[in-house]
Amino acid sequence: MEQKYVLECTYGIVICLSIALLVSSDASMNETKTCCTDRFGLNYTLPMFFECQKKGHLNGSMVQTIPKLIPNSLGGGGCPRRESKLGVPPGRRVCRFPDCDINPCENGWCEETMTGYRCHCPIGFQGKQCHELDTNPPATTQGIFVTCLKDITVTVELGTPNKSVEFTPPSAVNREGTVVLVSQNYISGDDFPVGSTLVEYIFADESGNQASLCTFNVNVNTVDTTPPVVQSCPSNQTFSVLKTTTPITWTPPTASDASGIAFIVANYEPGVNVSVNSPISVIYTVTDNSGLVNTNCSFNITLVSIINVAQRAPTVYTRETGRCLDGV
Ligand SMILES: *[C@@H]1O[C@H](CO)[C@@H](O)[C@H](O)[C@H]1NC(C)=O
Ligand SMILES: *[C@@H]1O[C@H](CO)[C@@H](O)[C@H](O)[C@H]1NC(C)=O
Ligand SMILES: *[C@@H]1O[C@H](CO)[C@@H](O)[C@H](O)[C@H]1NC(C)=O
Ligand SMILES: *[C@@H]1O[C@H](CO)[C@@H](O)[C@H](O)[C@H]1NC(C)=O
Ligand SMILES: *[C@@H]1O[C@H](CO)[C@@H](O)[C@H](O)[C@H]1NC(C)=O
Ligand SMILES: *[C@@H]1O[C@H](CO)[C@@H](O)[C@H](O)[C@H]1NC(C)=O
Ligand SMILES: *[C@@H]1O[C@H](CO)[C@@H](O)[C@H](O)[C@H]1NC(C)=O
Repeated sequence: MEQKYVLECTYGIVICLSIALLVSSDASMNETKTCCTDRFGLNYTLPMFFECQKKGHLNGSMVQTIPKLIPNSLGGGGCPRRESKLGVPPGRRVCRFPDCDINPCENGWCEETMTGYRCHCPIGFQGKQCHELDTNPPATTQGIFVTCLKDITVTVELGTPNKSVEFTPPSAVNREGTVVLVSQNYISGDDFPVGSTLVEYIFADESGNQASLCTFNVNVNTVDTTPPVVQSCPSNQTFSVLKTTTPITWTPPTASDASGIAFIVANYEPGVNVSVNSPISVIYTVTDNSGLVNTNCSFNITLVSIINVAQRAPTVYTRETGRCLDGV
């Protein structure tokens, strides 16, 4: 491996050093050919052609530069591809000021990476620079770390008053392991009413420090998939009449639904004129406020002439069976 590095260095130095010099514009770099790796405590290894030196910073201090890679895809051209044989992606190797020196991570700690930096966000922050607030952060108060939950949304059939909702209970720890749950307004499996309910867990350590920031909503939304129910649908009716055309009346059905009833309409209204030997088929269309429809209530109205009934079966024609709806 040593041998290979040296070869690599002597080969690469011709092509790469000049580029590296350009990129870093570091006039003070020596050609020490030590192939330095991570003597800077870096979490990556980047074999170099020369040791990274201290360099004059704009603020006047001498600041240690560290090995960095400018990947080929970004830099364009550069060192020969065979460099990847060392486990190093193709690119130009340069010495530059640590990327973390400019404190790019607003709220986290900054780790040097081979090509730049990575921000490690603390609890409650997210994003590349840890600059975004975590929408539902595990809360922390006085060293108590709470693992909280995101909002939960469930759906129930309209008319259901509540829904049992299960969730992983929030938990909390501190370094000493002395956190206790002080209060909880709901537990997993409780009935949650329709609407939005705020769940709050409060933890505290033995000195009474409280972390009450674990709050989340349980949203119970409703959906209507049940069509309206029709009551008192008139039955099929046959009337014996004297007049060939007679107005017929009936009591319209009623209907109910959790969303309320929007319309009850029929193809014939009570009082419609019906003729003997021309039965009508009445169909009710009931629509609820969710737009669901029930057309199951239908019935026929048939008129037969009393004269015909009497002729066909004279014994049947009595005052009781002869229903004279037109008042005759
Ligand atoms: C100059 O900047 C470097 C890098 O940001 C920093 O480490 C150093 O402390 C600064 N020196 C002074 C005197 O501000
Ligand atoms: C390397 O990682 C450790 C922990 O993962 C961290 O403490 C250290 O600061 C890192 N080093 C650099 C140079 O980023
Ligand atoms: C939830 O609804 C059921 C009826 O579906 C009822 O018996 C129960 O009392 C309700 N629970 C709460 C907490 O309101
Ligand atoms: C009327 O008669 C038809 C056909 O026999 C039947 O399908 C329907 O259910 C009856 N309607 C009522 C309201 O009884
Ligand atoms: C039924 O017929 C009578 C007599 O022809 C008429 O006066 C009445 O308006 C009709 N009723 C309906 C609802 O059409
Ligand atoms: C009701 O009327 C429909 C259509 O006119 C017909 O098909 C059906 O047989 C009738 N049912 C009865 C019980 O009269
Ligand atoms: C209508 O009647 C049929 C048969 O009885 C039933 O399966 C269906 O659910 C009913 N529809 C409604 C909207 O009640």
